[in-house]
Amino acid sequence: MELLELKKVSYISKGKYILKDISLKIKKGDFISVVGASGSGKSTLFKICSHLLSQSEGEIVYKNKNADEYDPIKFRKEISYCFQTPYLFGDKVIDNILFPFIIRNKEIDMSRVKELFFLFNLSEDFLNMQVENLSGGEKQRIALIRALLFEPVILLLDEITSALDSENVFLVENVIQALNNKGMTIMWITHNKEQSKKYANKLLVLEVGEIKALEMLK
Ligand SMILES: Nc1ncnc2c1ncn2[C@@H]1O[C@H](COP(=O)(O)OP(=O)(O)O)[C@@H](O)[C@H]1O
Ligand SMILES: [Mg+2]
Repeated sequence: MELLELKKVSYISKGKYILKDISLKIKKGDFISVVGASGSGKSTLFKICSHLLSQSEGEIVYKNKNADEYDPIKFRKEISYCFQTPYLFGDKVIDNILFPFIIRNKEIDMSRVKELFFLFNLSEDFLNMQVENLSGGEKQRIALIRALLFEPVILLLDEITSALDSENVFLVENVIQALNNKGMTIMWITHNKEQSKKYANKLLVLEVGEIKALEMLK
């Protein structure tokens, strides 16, 4: 089933094409690696896919309906973008963990919180830690936990393992692979060539804002 389709999508900023004529079909269960030189438009593509930016030209169709017809907040709950530089808010880690429950008017599910902390190899003591005292790798994993408390339909990961040591890269990769095996659609941006081919079924190569290649890996 086609989940998300980009039809000749472009993004123009200050008269310049950042993305040009991107046509792409994302199927349920796809695991797509996105590669390309720095500045080729990878992050911009993900922000457009998750409705954080609006395309300048072209059309985006999600579940057979034009993306513009969805409430952007509802849309972002289904298509979740994890930033390249993890953004945590408030004073403490717990503020970030409670937020997804609060915006959904749901009771805090501590067993789900604990399960994710365990999965990402973080002690529950982190909940009361100040955000400013965390390392880049810890912030990155907390941001992932925040994105996964309620599982999105499509998870967009922007170089999320770049701040992690090799042990935690492996751990995070395994969690993502397990989510994909359960049916979650994944797109991730990676600079690591080996990583780009290890788990994905498709490899998308961007070059100065255009699709240079879409390679089938499996
Ligand atoms: N909001 C913006 N306004 C103007 N230019 C931007 C904006 N965001 C990104 N760019 C430019 O668009 C290009 C693509 O950026 P980006 O999507 O971040 O690339 P990548 O993630 O592949 O490194 C870069 O040249 C960048 O400087
Ligand atoms: Mg980027």
